[in-house]
Amino acid sequence: MPSLSRRHFFGAAAGMAAIAAAPRLAFAQAPAAAPAAAPAPAGPFAVPPLAYPFNALEPHIDAKTMEIHHDKHHGAYVANLNTIAKANPQLGTSAIPDVLGNLNALNDDIKFAVRNNLGGHANHTMFWEIMAPGGGKPEGEVLAAIDKDLGGLEKFQTDFNAAGGRQFGSGWVFVTVAKDGKLAIETRPNQDNPIMDGKRALLGNDVWEHAYYLNYQNRRADYLKAWWNTVNWSKVAERYAAAKAGTLGV
Ligand SMILES: [Fe+2]
Repeated sequence: MPSLSRRHFFGAAAGMAAIAAAPRLAFAQAPAAAPAAAPAPAGPFAVPPLAYPFNALEPHIDAKTMEIHHDKHHGAYVANLNTIAKANPQLGTSAIPDVLGNLNALNDDIKFAVRNNLGGHANHTMFWEIMAPGGGKPEGEVLAAIDKDLGGLEKFQTDFNAAGGRQFGSGWVFVTVAKDGKLAIETRPNQDNPIMDGKRALLGNDVWEHAYYLNYQNRRADYLKAWWNTVNWSKVAERYAAAKAGTLGV
């Protein structure tokens, strides 16, 4: 796989710095309209649209947090991936689990950026999917697995919240699912994803401050508790079946 050159990265950064530092001579003559945002780099990656409005998860997650989180934070990971994919087109045509599961196959100059940005893309794609207004409760095979492997729903949610609270700094708390359907609570730093360790995320909660700070500030524990009201258990059941069938994507 060809790699993104340092010149490409630093050239782009220098260009942006030059624009920011340019004297605003044109401003006096320009109309009052706000300047248009620079278009995101086009490419093979896109932020998946939400299946519900930004305010659908209130009061547990506020609309502004959802909008910034989905459009700006996830948008930035996607924009970065499209920039990397310009010089590394295979990135855009490979299955995401194949790339995340074999990061060491990447050239050193893009490995770190792909780990962070493709991990972020995978994590957030899962995250939007496993939430929905109205919440619900686990049933059927998923509930049976929670009972068997995680000590029942109440203990599971308590342990999951505790693990999310212990994650130092930014990261995720996941329920991983093995091919035999066995569940486990695991955390990852930054935008790492269980696929990087040959596992799969059944569900996960984002404990980066950007996921909750507008509404909860430093009260991560309150966010972790409230978040359960947003979990789309029917989608989690679909993911569980897919994981056991070996067809779960991200
Ligand atoms: Fe996030």
